[in-house]
Amino acid sequence: MNLRKKTLIIANWKMHLNTHQASLLVHRLDERIQVHRDIEVVLAPSMLSLQPLSQQINHRKFKLAAQNGYATDEGAYTGEVSFAMLSGLVTYAIVGHSARRIYFNETLEVVRDKVQAAVRNDIMPVICIGETKQERDAGEGRQVLHDQLTTALMNITSRELERVVLAYEPVWAISTFDGIIAKPDDIEKSIAYIRMQLRELYGEKAAENMYILYGGSVNDHDVRSYLEVPGVDGALVGAASLNYHQFSAMIDAAYRMRTEA
Ligand code: 13P
Repeated sequence: MNLRKKTLIIANWKMHLNTHQASLLVHRLDERIQVHRDIEVVLAPSMLSLQPLSQQINHRKFKLAAQNGYATDEGAYTGEVSFAMLSGLVTYAIVGHSARRIYFNETLEVVRDKVQAAVRNDIMPVICIGETKQERDAGEGRQVLHDQLTTALMNITSRELERVVLAYEPVWAISTFDGIIAKPDDIEKSIAYIRMQLRELYGEKAAENMYILYGGSVNDHDVRSYLEVPGVDGALVGAASLNYHQFSAMIDAAYRMRTEA
């Protein structure tokens, strides 16, 4: 945990909760979570819930993230919502989540264009990168991270990089894929590799300042062990973020870690 940076914890609710259920969960979280200056709590509900939740939340306590967006600002793209439309409504947008790469065939280039569109529309992309179990077993993990990272950042300047967040989410560690519990050592090595790539592309300082989150089966019991991994600046949480006891306990754990440090 780097005390010079905030701890960033993002709840990715994926395709769960209708607007009523989402509102109820926010109500429960609001009762349990305090405003902490050094902890940024971000909620990523479905597209449908963003607008009502933006009216409901205390914006000092919670920020909103979209789970996706379309790279073109406007046009005849039936069913899509652009980053231009999300601008002003959300602070962040998750881009390139493995679910989108795998189930919706998002290529490296699609992710690259989405990253650029988010930045252009003043939304901070949370770019997810990570290898599958198959790629890991074949010894291709590093290559996959390299390709996903360099393509996603292809059109991003050093200045713009300050408004970009990365999330290392090994697909094999995500609860709904293989759910293998990642070892702190594995995560540390991958994140060190990612920072090395960033250093080559943007220099020492930019690489150091970059927020890199870990995601993959994080829950209230082990969040501490992940936040302790050198280089990890926060967590991207799936399943456990749908449970208000667990999610608020994670924020508490992060807060305690900071106060103890
Ligand atoms: P889980 O926490 O359910 O493994 O999901 C991780 C994830 O994909 C967050 O984006």
